Amino acid sequence: MPKKVIFDVDPGIDDAVAVCIGLFNPDLEVVAVTSVGGNVSPAQAARNVQVILSQMDPPRWPRIGAGTAPEHGLPTEGRRIFGPDGLGGVPFDVAVRRDLRPSEKVICDEIRAAPEAVTILACGPLTNIARAFLRDPELPSLLGQLIIVGGTVSGPGNITPAAEFNIYCDPQAARTVFRTPCTKFLIPLDVTNQIELTLDVLTRIPEETTRVGRFVRKLLQAAFRGYRQELGLEAIRIHDVVGLVALTHPELFTFVEMAGDVETMGELTLGATVFDRRRVPAWRHNIAVATKVNKEAVLEEIIRSLHTAAEIAERQNPYCDGI
Ligand code: BDR
Ligand code: CA
Repeated sequence: MPKKVIFDVDPGIDDAVAVCIGLFNPDLEVVAVTSVGGNVSPAQAARNVQVILSQMDPPRWPRIGAGTAPEHGLPTEGRRIFGPDGLGGVPFDVAVRRDLRPSEKVICDEIRAAPEAVTILACGPLTNIARAFLRDPELPSLLGQLIIVGGTVSGPGNITPAAEFNIYCDPQAARTVFRTPCTKFLIPLDVTNQIELTLDVLTRIPEETTRVGRFVRKLLQAAFRGYRQELGLEAIRIHDVVGLVALTHPELFTFVEMAGDVETMGELTLGATVFDRRRVPAWRHNIAVATKVNKEAVLEEIIRSLHTAAEIAERQNPYCDGI
């Protein structure tokens, strides 16, 4: 039976690629895609989710949730690598729906509908997940598993010297989620940064003649531009796609149980993830953290899963351009 999954995303090019792959993965049933502010505003994130779904047009659309800004607002200094619209400025038309349910409500409904069977892949700030936990206190015990892409263990952050972007955007929410007992996994920057895509990846992914190939190519080309212009880097990182591989192929990662929390007040360290790694720790283990990754195998899996997605999408609904 395919695994039920909710993608909670702030698209973001890496979020978008993860959703494309997930929608056509035969081992997954994407029951909902919920949007959250982060890379872009909540309204833009909701629009981008609709762009992804309308470009991919799966036979059965998942439910869509609309996020709203965190209680303390989003940081004004966002990540600029994906451009102001989050999808690299590539123009995509979409008829935006205004009647979407709040993301946290969609999350609660889907978990209640299939107790202990739903995985959430959290690819953005943890605003929606924390709200869902607060709205329905039984929810954490009904959730199958939560996979969080974010945080750092030993390395630097990517938005401040100390903090990773997703956690930094809503540290209060991240703390709530970290402190809530449930089965959770963290895929931190220390691991996601190790999977780098260089330009030659464009020779290995599905062709433009497929809907997946066409969409992903546009996005990745924009990501290469953004990384070069904003960071001076020739290689890109697609953190959220690595998170998806951790869900579908956990055997490619080493997980270590840790005791983690989030800094919510630090002047220099706001949004930093802190782990009690003393020889005699005082905190209890609350999260399994990916500490090692089989880099080559993850990269191969990303390429393989893109081809599978492209083939399945074509079989379900062939792509034709301008005919
Ligand atoms: C995370 O930050 C966002 O920009 C990406 O989409 C990813 O979820 C990595 O720090
Ligand atoms: Ca993201």
